[in-house]
Amino acid sequence: MLPFEVIAANIATQKELQQVYRSEHGILYQGDCLKLLTALPSKSVDLIFADPPFNLGKEYGESVNDQMEVDKYLSWSQQWLEQSVRVLKEGGSLFVFNLPQWCIEYGAYLNRKEMWFRHWIACRMPKTFPRGKKMSPAHYGLVYYTKGEPAVFNKVYTPIQVCRHCGREIRDYGGHRKRLNENGINLMDVWDMPEDVWENASETNPNETLWTLAEEMWTDIPPVRHRQHKKRVPNELAPIMLERIVAMASNPGQVVVDPFGGSGTTFYAAEKLHRYWIGSEIGDTQPAIQRLTNLANGLVEQWESARGNKKLKRRETNALQLPIPYTT
Ligand SMILES: C[S@@+](CC[C@H](N)C(=O)[O-])C[C@H]1O[C@@H](n2cnc3c(N)ncnc32)[C@H](O)[C@@H]1O
Repeated sequence: MLPFEVIAANIATQKELQQVYRSEHGILYQGDCLKLLTALPSKSVDLIFADPPFNLGKEYGESVNDQMEVDKYLSWSQQWLEQSVRVLKEGGSLFVFNLPQWCIEYGAYLNRKEMWFRHWIACRMPKTFPRGKKMSPAHYGLVYYTKGEPAVFNKVYTPIQVCRHCGREIRDYGGHRKRLNENGINLMDVWDMPEDVWENASETNPNETLWTLAEEMWTDIPPVRHRQHKKRVPNELAPIMLERIVAMASNPGQVVVDPFGGSGTTFYAAEKLHRYWIGSEIGDTQPAIQRLTNLANGLVEQWESARGNKKLKRRETNALQLPIPYTT
């Protein structure tokens, strides 16, 4: 039995989780994330991504209270963080996406556990607005911890960023521009083409210098938009973000978990990049199922702009060249 199947067999004993979707690589359960996490064997998971409700009073359906007392929200957060730490393998990675206000609390908690701080990644969210006597919020935090020495840290490639209006490159790359691999980097002004970048990168000459962008400031993530202006499913993250995380902190065949599945961005990325995945969602699971069904039918998402327009395009190949393992 594959480790993934052993894990799935464990979860099957948890009666309060209902399996609502299964593919060759993953299973989505409808139910409470704590039920899922406590059913997972210790040290069985390579990567966890968590994007919990931000406690901003949003509507997630009747099972979710997104306006808890601060103490309650934090003690609930500690429960799922504690379980996440338990189920991670040695060297496994944990990413948590939230407002800076909550990320610092998560960091303080994880620092007391056997977790190593790796990065606070700032995901630029330029469409947020100031509240009261505050500066205008411009980023969400993505805290990145590992359980000890990281087991996997792959270099990932991102497109060279160009101006949307004039088409010229935005950065000068400190005089190293000529050393970038044109084949490995897509110059088109689109948001979500990492698949192309990885597929074209490197194999022909593994020794050539490639530009990698593994900065802590991610400025190319389309924002989650306010409900009134949303064209996408509520809180649906852009695949570019999850594909980057999955490619960076796991290898094909490893196990990825997302306890707060939402519209299934993590599962979409894991499935596309050939990882096993397991997830839970307490509310509506149809958006995630639809997204995974599209992918299973060969349709991948192409996100065009910060306005959140999304198109489906037929995937040309299911084959994937892997990111180069990071070694120093
Ligand atoms: C911020 S959204 C996640 C969005 C997701 N990352 C995506 O890209 O679509 C948080 C999700 O967690 C779900 N949720 C809230 N409490 C939960 C719980 N206790 N167990 C499982 N899911 C929960 C909500 O219904 C909501 O869909």
